[in-house]
Amino acid sequence: MAVRPVLKMGHPILQQTAAPVTDFDDPKLAAIVGDMFDTMAALNGAGLAAPQIGESIQLVIFQVANNPRYPTAEAVPKTILINPTITPLSDTQVDDWEGCLSIPGMRGLVPRYQSIRYTGYDLNGTPLAIEASDFHARVVQHEVDHLFGILYPQRIKDLRYFGFESELFPADLS
Ligand code: NI
Repeated sequence: MAVRPVLKMGHPILQQTAAPVTDFDDPKLAAIVGDMFDTMAALNGAGLAAPQIGESIQLVIFQVANNPRYPTAEAVPKTILINPTITPLSDTQVDDWEGCLSIPGMRGLVPRYQSIRYTGYDLNGTPLAIEASDFHARVVQHEVDHLFGILYPQRIKDLRYFGFESELFPADLS
């Protein structure tokens, strides 16, 4: 297990569609997941997608509990999600601020579906099917976008609401 370097916006791997996982018994898969949790924890991330550490496979993780980068966010259970699909449960979208470890120091106001159902597989290859709303749903949509080469600035409707955290939220630095 190791903290790995996180690729930054502009790196071509972040612009690719990642390959589906086909061999759940490959020990390399568990090693990548371990590195991803170490990396996410070291950087106070809410989630991380495998392409962000240079592994172009359909694998994301997320977990939110007392995160200093998201102090008001509700908790999100620790999840390993492989080969995911997302289905919106209604057309309702909500705007909220997002950040990304591949775009350090910045935040943007991003519309996301408020409620979704997501499916996929855990590390053992066991199918998952979960309904989520609000911040949990937002984190899943953000992370799964990474698997299709999409970073959150591509979702921002009004680029006036994209900028440096220190300028957008100066009070938070106190
Ligand atoms: Ni991200």
